[in-house]
Amino acid sequence: EKGGYQHFMLKEMHEQPKAVKDTLSPRIDDENRILLDELRLTGEELNHFNKITIVACGTAMHAGLVGKHAIETFARIPVEVEIASEFRYRDPFVDERTLLIAVSQSGETADTLAALREAKARGAHVLTITNVVGSRISREAHDVFYTWAGPEIAVASTKAYITQVVALYLIGLYLAELKGTMTRQQVGEKVAELKTLPDKIQQILDQQETIQELANKQFNQQSVFFIGRGIDDYTAKEGSLKLKEISYIHSEAIAAGELKHGTIALLEEGTLVVALATQEQLYDKMLSNMKEVKARGAYVVAVTEEPRAAEVALSADVVLTIPDTHNEFTPALAVVPLQLFAYYTAVARGADVDKPKNLAKSVTVE
Ligand code: F6R
Repeated sequence: EKGGYQHFMLKEMHEQPKAVKDTLSPRIDDENRILLDELRLTGEELNHFNKITIVACGTAMHAGLVGKHAIETFARIPVEVEIASEFRYRDPFVDERTLLIAVSQSGETADTLAALREAKARGAHVLTITNVVGSRISREAHDVFYTWAGPEIAVASTKAYITQVVALYLIGLYLAELKGTMTRQQVGEKVAELKTLPDKIQQILDQQETIQELANKQFNQQSVFFIGRGIDDYTAKEGSLKLKEISYIHSEAIAAGELKHGTIALLEEGTLVVALATQEQLYDKMLSNMKEVKARGAYVVAVTEEPRAAEVALSADVVLTIPDTHNEFTPALAVVPLQLFAYYTAVARGADVDKPKNLAKSVTVE
């Protein structure tokens, strides 16, 4: 049932190109137009909303953060992202002018369901992005966008995450066209790039041996830091969660500009710092953060796009590359080396990768 793979997690990471393709293809036509039958909104209804609120937990919340950036960039609608277990207890600003998006792989997470009910009771229009047909959350939402990732068995979410991100890209572009912040042609250019993601993910998976070698050298770390700016910070958060949940190494993600406001005090000779540098406009700032941590003895593993590898190598000990893509779409690629790194680190430490201690695949208790 693991299809020849040692663990479900490895199998599911390898299913990512197909999961992305299956999620995209029913929603785009040959002319790169987006067809979102699941979001039955007219332009007028859309203009009625004054904000979007995304609620989710864990990895799904990280997908929400990437989605916030995409929707704000493409459709120019303000988006807030909130952890479902916080949202539901804080008397949130939600009313009939809110479009609420609940993101949940299982569609059964208790806090996400409760947040959805809270928002519905306050009059919000509720859309869910979920991977399980007929799940509780899918039954209670007004509109459902299914990610077609297929069953995810490993506790650590990989292919579901990547399809959630892609779903949010499609929704952002769809809203942009409906609202008129992007032309059909501009949307078409983005869609054409989205179609290249499956092959690009495959190219990263093909580098798994390099990442395994790195993990085999670094698996004894006590503590690992992930740094990035902008959407790279969101990918950093996801990479950090993946590593800690399956390898049991303490790790944290910090917006790179925040380092010198405290966390840099923890760096020692040989501390592993994973630095994400995929954002054009933030690139120089990231290089200086990398130099800063290296000067304090950190061992820096950078993730960047291929065309920049040589330059980044001057400020890093190891460079992992992803294929070049549009700025907004790098999270769908940059997460893959981090998933592989978490996986091979856990394997090197002899951890039970698919069933980490203390964790359940779907959290139906509060
Ligand atoms: C981490 C992970 C969890 C889930 C979270 C939400 O790898 O899988 O953080 O993302 O428990 O679960 P769903 O998406 O089913 O609501």
